[in-house]
Amino acid sequence: MADSSARLDIGGTGHDYAVKDGSVGPQVIDIRKLYADTGMFTYDPGFTSTASCESGLTYIDGDEGILLHRGYPIDQLAEQSSFMEVSYLLLRGELPSKAELEEFTRTITRHTMVHEQLTTFYRGFRRDAHPMAIMCGVVGALSAFYHDSTDINDPMQRRIASHRLIAKMPTIAAMAYKYSVGQPFVYPRNDLSYTGNFLNMTFSVPAEEYVVDPVIEDAMDKIFILHADHEQNASTSTVRLAGSSGANPFACIAAGIACLWGPAHGGANEAALNMLREIGTVDRIPEYIARAKNKDDPFRLMGFGHRVYKNYDPRAKVMQKTANEVLTKLGVTDPIFDVARELEQIALNDPYFVEKKLYPNVDFYSGIILSAIGFPTEMFTVLFALARTVGWVAQWNEMISDPAQKIGRPRQLYTGPTQRDYVPVDKR
Ligand code: SDX
Repeated sequence: MADSSARLDIGGTGHDYAVKDGSVGPQVIDIRKLYADTGMFTYDPGFTSTASCESGLTYIDGDEGILLHRGYPIDQLAEQSSFMEVSYLLLRGELPSKAELEEFTRTITRHTMVHEQLTTFYRGFRRDAHPMAIMCGVVGALSAFYHDSTDINDPMQRRIASHRLIAKMPTIAAMAYKYSVGQPFVYPRNDLSYTGNFLNMTFSVPAEEYVVDPVIEDAMDKIFILHADHEQNASTSTVRLAGSSGANPFACIAAGIACLWGPAHGGANEAALNMLREIGTVDRIPEYIARAKNKDDPFRLMGFGHRVYKNYDPRAKVMQKTANEVLTKLGVTDPIFDVARELEQIALNDPYFVEKKLYPNVDFYSGIILSAIGFPTEMFTVLFALARTVGWVAQWNEMISDPAQKIGRPRQLYTGPTQRDYVPVDKR
């Protein structure tokens, strides 16, 4: 990559820093020596202008609404690929041959069962526990069961841990749902697809035969693809930061799940559907648009806006199309879908949203599909975590293999009290 340099003039002294080119996208200024040279830090809360790493996994052009996984556009992957194939692509860097895909799928399939004692963890939770709380606890607990795949310096252990996490997340997620509704856990079935197996573990009951609906299986697989990875978002950065200390992969993914839960991030799909339900009818939309624009009102349009996309989130486009298809094929008419489409049209023509470049994001339509399929709202972010696990795992592997990676340890702008002496309590 061709390098040039940038000069920083501080108090008349010039400091030159290398400018590095990526294969596409913004250049970076390598400021790793800035503090040693100048005794100064950069200041960038929220990392709006900071590249935390070099990565070849996913590229987003926020202005053009482009999302590529290892160079392949997300709409092509969503329409033509499968979640297992996209998982292979993210992990290995290339689309698999037929034989490679079959081998990878077989490997993942054979890791879908969880240790039988892991089921006792669920008994400790209240039935009304939020399933994301269960996911944080149970995924973190995996490190207590798989001691043979926690040595991050052993490539084979990293690969096994990666496969275990991708394979077991659907089982753990389905068990969280079953526990919440008081139904028995359903074991994985090796004769079903990754996504079909998840649907069976979630919705089948011992009392009758469950047949995976291909329409739902296809929509679910597409939703998993749309959530697989997304550059250095908050939860991925959390996984990388946790991994930079040498923490085991199960603990790192549990940290990512915890971060994803926030309503500004993965929790937005649950919040967006709750918001649409609260709005309820098209005639109430203007009231909520006004609230979203009111600086004194903390209300935001959930499912709108993005740190990177200043154009339409390409995933939201696919999601809206899928929502249409699923509702039509299932013969479901959900009035909040009309509210969603009307809200989108009103917002996209409102000067506030136009000026701030606020468009629907991946979370705006996903809840409508998931609700139509039969998932309770509390499960939406669990499904996001299930799909994002392959992205977290791929990013974690990339970080560990990166010779430039060090333990993440940001500095700060200190604005607290300067040094002062302790005063005994009887003299205060
Ligand atoms: C995801 O990073 C990723 O890649 C995340 C993700 C992934 O795949 O990993 O894409 C998944 O998290 C999608 C985002 C889901 N979150 C939501 O839908 C929650 C609602 N959105 C906002 O909270 C917000 O848009 C964020 C958090 C997504 C982005 O916030 P930023 O980049 O920090 O932008 P900001 O908060 O500084 O907002 C810029 C301006 C502000 O107004 P001003 O202070 O400039 O006057 O836009 C306003 C905000 O008040 N604004 C909104 C708004 N989002 C931003 N106003 C009303 N409604 C909104 N949704």
